[in-house]
Amino acid sequence: MKARSFLEIDDLSPTELSRVLDLSEAPAQPLLQGIGVALLFEKPSLRTRNSSEMAVVQLGGHPAYITNAEAGLDTRESAPDVVRTLQGYYGIVAARVFGHDKLERMAAVATVPIINLLSDRAHPVQALADLLTIRQEFGSVEGRRVSWLGDFTNVARSLAIGVMMQGGSVSVACPEGYGPSTADLERFASLRVHGGSFEVAASPTACVTHSDVVSTDAWYSMGQEEEAELRRPIMEPYRVDDALLKLASPTAIFMHCLPAHRGDEATSDVLDGAQSRIWPQAQNRMHTMKGLFSWLCE
Ligand code: CP
Ligand code: NVA
Repeated sequence: MKARSFLEIDDLSPTELSRVLDLSEAPAQPLLQGIGVALLFEKPSLRTRNSSEMAVVQLGGHPAYITNAEAGLDTRESAPDVVRTLQGYYGIVAARVFGHDKLERMAAVATVPIINLLSDRAHPVQALADLLTIRQEFGSVEGRRVSWLGDFTNVARSLAIGVMMQGGSVSVACPEGYGPSTADLERFASLRVHGGSFEVAASPTACVTHSDVVSTDAWYSMGQEEEAELRRPIMEPYRVDDALLKLASPTAIFMHCLPAHRGDEATSDVLDGAQSRIWPQAQNRMHTMKGLFSWLCE
């Protein structure tokens, strides 16, 4: 097992990222036979929990779902002490947390890989599935234009980095105060060496025009539910509907990490329409977890 943590998508090199995507499409090998994978959640999950569990099963390992009610990260005991304990039993520790720094403190003491299953900063295992979905549709991510509408979330950040690492271009349109930070923009500028590009578009229509992929996420993330009414009117102009999607390339696809708030960030017509790839994208969560775990075992 590689002693490599995966907290952000660019913890992999572009070559390693391509290898993980290749392994995601390869038949499963019994690489986790006799090995347990701890799946620790501070927040709810449908896709991430179940896709991870089944990927571990496909590789012959044992998935263990642990809620934070039991683990008590930084409440019952410190997050590093939780890792020091779990790594005595499990070959991989994966966690979904509120604060990204918690994962960094866990990885700092870990002798086993720590996998980010979503933090406030990043959702790298989602980005793996998103990139595989784009690759399956177009043959490669290189040269493709990916647009992002609405809140610039953890999912948006990981997707943008992943797309640029694979030589694609990213265009985003976000309300003022909900877009990429200065630190994000500096980081994206440094990723241009891989052949990709990043731009903040002047409007939702400019963002989507000629795009190959139109993507969005919830207007309020887990933990921000009380901001829903404040955010809704601010985000409205960024809703993906049929009229907006028509401005993209005729072969464009629509993606959403899910869960979707139908009628908010995207209409049901778009979510259920012919250009939507949300269900293959959700299924790719399992294939890419298999790819990631397989790569760790190579
Ligand atoms: N996309 C995603 O991570 O879904 P869950 O929150 O259901 O895991
Ligand atoms: N941005 C969302 C993604 C959910 C998969 C959240 O953090 O809640």
